[in-house]
Amino acid sequence: MSFHVIQQAPARLNRSELAVPGSAPQMFEKAAKSDADVIFLDLEDAVAPDDKAEARKNIIKALNEVDWGTKTMSVRINGLDTHYMYRDVVDVVEQAGERLDLIMIPKVGTAADVYAVDMLVTQIEDAKGYKKRIGFEHIIETALGMQNVSDIAAASKRNESLHFGVADYAASTRARTTIIGGVNPDYAVLTDKLDDGSRDVHWGDMWHYALARMVVAARANGLRPIDGPFGDFSDPDGYKAAAKRAAVLGCEGKWAIHPSQIALANEVMSPSEAEVTKAQRILKAMEEAAAEGKGAVSLDGRLIDYASIRQAEVLVEKARQIAAA
Ligand code: GLV
Ligand code: MG
Repeated sequence: MSFHVIQQAPARLNRSELAVPGSAPQMFEKAAKSDADVIFLDLEDAVAPDDKAEARKNIIKALNEVDWGTKTMSVRINGLDTHYMYRDVVDVVEQAGERLDLIMIPKVGTAADVYAVDMLVTQIEDAKGYKKRIGFEHIIETALGMQNVSDIAAASKRNESLHFGVADYAASTRARTTIIGGVNPDYAVLTDKLDDGSRDVHWGDMWHYALARMVVAARANGLRPIDGPFGDFSDPDGYKAAAKRAAVLGCEGKWAIHPSQIALANEVMSPSEAEVTKAQRILKAMEEAAAEGKGAVSLDGRLIDYASIRQAEVLVEKARQIAAA
């Protein structure tokens, strides 16, 4: 290990993160009763410019009055390039900061963006005498944000998670997409011809680099990497495939832009019973190995060593969090 110790963000369950427009208060109660781990009430792209002020009021009222149970509550503010953003922060944190766990910052581009919001939130928290510190979640969804992702990830002690905002990322990089978070048949490999002249097309994942880049920046700074939206909510298989790819790369959650996607995210982002049992067996086998003075042993015909312990511990800890939720 490096001498540099990575401080881990607070351990929150973040398998599913439900997006709820601040301009749709009729959805709030249902969201509160859902199985989403995190809810973000949106002031940004799901809210039309004329509705921003009303949405802000709706969100403040809902944070104070709706019973959100133990859910982690977040508000997506408007971008720092808009004139809505300062009032989003001032009004929401001043008037509902006690029940707010996280602020989601969209289109974050530089570490200075994070610094600016941190300064504002710190002043409000101090003035109000809040005991709890509000955390930050950042959407990496522009070319600039991706270029500076490591600096952004390290920019504040409030940082908790990085989110891949595939829709805006596609717009910013001018990527050719079909649907939000979907794949494009043009991003494919055409295999060489076999003897019989046949060839195959293997579809690729055009988001692989971006997601993997973000995961590294998040993990190197102790933050949760979270995959963003999948637009076609009538395609649960497509959603699950995208969620699985993200999970394989190290993401611990995915957005739900529709209630039907919550269960899918929770399922994919939870370790299976078989995985947990295997992890527990690894820990037991390594404990026995250590007692015999060995650093590596075999289990079910495969090598396990100290790295296996770390992987198994992560899994068992996640299962414990889920059971406690
Ligand atoms: C999310 O905000 C996205 O742009 O995908
Ligand atoms: Mg976006």
